[in-house]
Amino acid sequence: MLHIDIITVLPEMLEGFLNYSIVKRAQVKGLAEICLHNLRDYSSDSRHRRVDDYAFGGQAGMVIQCEPVDRAISFLKQQRQYDEVIYTSPDGEQFNQSVANHLSMKQNLIVLCGHYKGIDFRIREHLITREISIGDYVLTGGELAAAVMVDTIVRVIPGVIGDEQSALSDSFQDNLLAPPVYTRPLDYKGWKAPEILLSGHEAKIREWELQQSLERTKQLRPDLMEKIV
Ligand code: ADE
Repeated sequence: MLHIDIITVLPEMLEGFLNYSIVKRAQVKGLAEICLHNLRDYSSDSRHRRVDDYAFGGQAGMVIQCEPVDRAISFLKQQRQYDEVIYTSPDGEQFNQSVANHLSMKQNLIVLCGHYKGIDFRIREHLITREISIGDYVLTGGELAAAVMVDTIVRVIPGVIGDEQSALSDSFQDNLLAPPVYTRPLDYKGWKAPEILLSGHEAKIREWELQQSLERTKQLRPDLMEKIV
């Protein structure tokens, strides 16, 4: 079972997301356990529960302090051994399907959501084992990045998606975009679905799908074609 602890100043932002759809189902089935931790609970300032302060050097924006983060991570480390302590940051390695597949095979992960101007760099130097970015753009905070990562990681855990094939045939699992899919009716307002899909000829259908995948990838994501051996 994959256990993920998410440390954030905005747990409410993630609560809803964890209670829907496949991520919810994975938890109900006991295949994943995702716990939210409010960083403010680890503030040494019991009155205002502050976790940030002005940046040394006078730059604009607040910086999350070492102490609450250190206290939160130390508390969690008393209970389990972590494979990775991940920090969500635009500076990190680019998240993709292969990173997700890799992380889905781990046992225990911490995801620390970045916020404001960032966190005191000493935390990144001493406690973080991996920094991950979900793309070359800047989010207001790391919560959406954590949600994107957890969603992608959880759905590839074996058994989470009923028909296991369906996660394996996703776009990107083999660096190919997924083929188009169709359902009834065969003819909608004269827009016809490809007849081949109803031919009952399994081998020909798979061949058609592969051809579609290759064509779409060549046309829409030529960069991915270079990764296909
Ligand atoms: N925090 C802010 N921007 C981010 C990004 N692109 N990826 C991950 N964490 C972030």
